Amino acid sequence: MTSATCAAPPVVDLRGVARTYQGPSPVTALHPVELRIGVGEHVAIIGPSGSGKSTLMNLIGLLDRPTAGTYLMDGVDTSQISERDRTALRGHRIGFVFQAFHLMPHRSCVENVMLAQLYTSRRPKATRRANAIEALVQVGLGHRLEAHPGTLSGGERQRVAIARAIVNRPKLLLADEPTGNLDSSMAHSVLDILDNLIADGLTLLVITHDATVAARARRTVRIADGRLTETQTGATGAG
Ligand SMILES: Nc1ncnc2c1ncn2[C@@H]1O[C@H](COP(=O)(O)OP(=O)(O)O)[C@@H](O)[C@H]1O
Ligand SMILES: [Mg+2]
Repeated sequence: MTSATCAAPPVVDLRGVARTYQGPSPVTALHPVELRIGVGEHVAIIGPSGSGKSTLMNLIGLLDRPTAGTYLMDGVDTSQISERDRTALRGHRIGFVFQAFHLMPHRSCVENVMLAQLYTSRRPKATRRANAIEALVQVGLGHRLEAHPGTLSGGERQRVAIARAIVNRPKLLLADEPTGNLDSSMAHSVLDILDNLIADGLTLLVITHDATVAARARRTVRIADGRLTETQTGATGAG
């Protein structure tokens, strides 16, 4: 495992993955896509409402299954494994950040982040607490550990949600409109935190309709009517 990073499989490898919702008039929300996201990449998916962004995120996040194609997550063929193993893969390797922060209002920041480890870690409570504190320090909230979410700004709440998403040390962070509820200065502080996480080796996929959020990413993938088109932006360092 020492110098094998170049040969590491992509974190996300979609091969002809498609999703059709069944019903009286079936909707093909995602046409067959090819998408590979390597370790440590920062990719933005941008598209208007109804274009298939959530469909794609749910597939990549193992919350839904494709109706065609193959999805290799971190080299694991996710169509070949049990529901239980999919849940384990999701819990250990994927973190989620949503537009709404979904924090427990009557729990402190530390408790909110500790809760995310309940089903993924058999470690003792003191270890879970230490991990939670470490994650909160990483997002710049080491001074608000015992605060309740209601006393925090929107940007701080989203940072608690990010700490919760990274506490299990996922490889992939999926963020669906992470700044959608924030004014622009708070949005920038949250995007700065996400940039720092990439510097630490996390792979980040941000879903957004906001061009300024997408502009932070090295790769931008556009989605329209369930079809992807990719534009390469900025410096390309990862070959
Ligand atoms: N569970 C579902 N059943 C039927 N159609 C759906 C379902 N979820 C989404 N759709 C349709 O699939 C398309 C893409 O939706 P979605 O992925 O939610 O787009 P976005 O997140 O970009 O707004 C839309 O036409 C939507 O109406
Ligand atoms: Mg959506």
